[in-house]
Amino acid sequence: MIGAGLAPEQGPPFTAPLRFFLTAPWFLVAAGLLAAFDPGWTEGPLSPTALALTHLLTLGFLGMVMLGALTQMLPVLAGAPMPGIRPVATIGHASLTLGTPLLAWGLWRGEPAALLHGAGLLWLGLAPLLISAGLALADARRLDSVHAMRVAFVALLATLALGLGLAGWLADALPAGWRPDDPFIWLRAHALAGLAGWVAILVVGVAWQVVPMLQVTPAYPAWATRPLLVVLTSAVGVALLAPAPWRVVGEIALALGLAAFALVTLDLQRRRKRKLASPTLDLWRLGMLGLIGAVALFALPLPGEPARLAGGVLFLVGFAASVVIGMVDKIVPFLAWFHLRAGPGTSAGALPGMKDFLSDAAARGQARLHLVALVCLVAAPFAPALAVPGGLLLAAAGAVAGWNLARAARLYARHRR
Ligand code: HEM
Repeated sequence: MIGAGLAPEQGPPFTAPLRFFLTAPWFLVAAGLLAAFDPGWTEGPLSPTALALTHLLTLGFLGMVMLGALTQMLPVLAGAPMPGIRPVATIGHASLTLGTPLLAWGLWRGEPAALLHGAGLLWLGLAPLLISAGLALADARRLDSVHAMRVAFVALLATLALGLGLAGWLADALPAGWRPDDPFIWLRAHALAGLAGWVAILVVGVAWQVVPMLQVTPAYPAWATRPLLVVLTSAVGVALLAPAPWRVVGEIALALGLAAFALVTLDLQRRRKRKLASPTLDLWRLGMLGLIGAVALFALPLPGEPARLAGGVLFLVGFAASVVIGMVDKIVPFLAWFHLRAGPGTSAGALPGMKDFLSDAAARGQARLHLVALVCLVAAPFAPALAVPGGLLLAAAGAVAGWNLARAARLYARHRR
């Protein structure tokens, strides 16, 4: 999927996805440090620190990796190269790198100027990348995974539009006729489209390709591919757009659909053909358990903000961040190895193998730190003192990931020369 059967001229230059993958872990570091030094986020999901953390994780870490991966997957998986890939990747990466901290700062400190400049920078800088990805998706192969990417892409556009609207509302910069009667409706739609429509549906669609291929499992059963996508997409649509009493039907269908996806993935992993341990497998398993836990915390009528907050942590750090780290740890060594092997004038014998770029031991150390950080952070809404070790451990896991990937990139550059 990432590059099986790939001809070098088919994929983008390695630098296009690489710059996103190398930057993303430092947003985990930033999120971890903020979570440790301002444990105020444990007060509730709408506290200023929680809002800043949410965006460091969703835009800075997940968005950075997911958009970087799209630059590789659209040409290779979907047979649809993105037009102008070099400039749009450069501009998109710069806008995420600069706009996300500005937005997070504005949310944290309640500074309207930073909020508006961050949101504006993100929109302006991401627009060329999104137009290019949209053109590629319109032209792409009709695979189930590509359909999931299309749904996720539309959800991302809705999330970004609502995010801009919310930033304008918070900064009191919206023209009179544009102000929402009830901003909570925008907030709910923004969060739902972002977390379920963009993050979850993209992971589901990518899993259909990568789980059987990288973890050598049987293929997903037919019901868990396109029919599940139809259920998830309709559920998000109903939860977003239907009249109030019906929205809960969409939410229930969404919870059941995501839980079914997690359970079937765990079952496929249990039935994998080669029973070798690997940090990627562990991270994906952790991710699926995180998804089940998050769904349970949102779906069960548990009282109070701490349970909602713990559900958010399970979703973002337990589910999404775990599978994304597992993916990046596979993609970067593979692409480095592949581009060196395919490069002019290099002979396969003299080149490092994939494990030289990132060893299992290095990836495992990072995965263990991530796991311990997750345990502390999920418990922190109930026991706020745990925010400090949880945040510091998350920052440490991010720093190790950043270091590991930078080391792989240096090895690539050395051989490239
Ligand atoms: C241009 C990009 C974005 C902007 C300008 C933006 C802006 C905002 C603003 C201003 C709020 C707070 C609203 C309030 O206090 O009432 C918010 C909340 C939120 N945003 Fe975003 N956002 C962006 C992208 C995203 C993305 C991509 C995601 C998810 C993938 C996301 C997920 C959330 C969530 C989950 C909340 C609610 C937080 C909570 O309940 O703790 N945002 N966003």
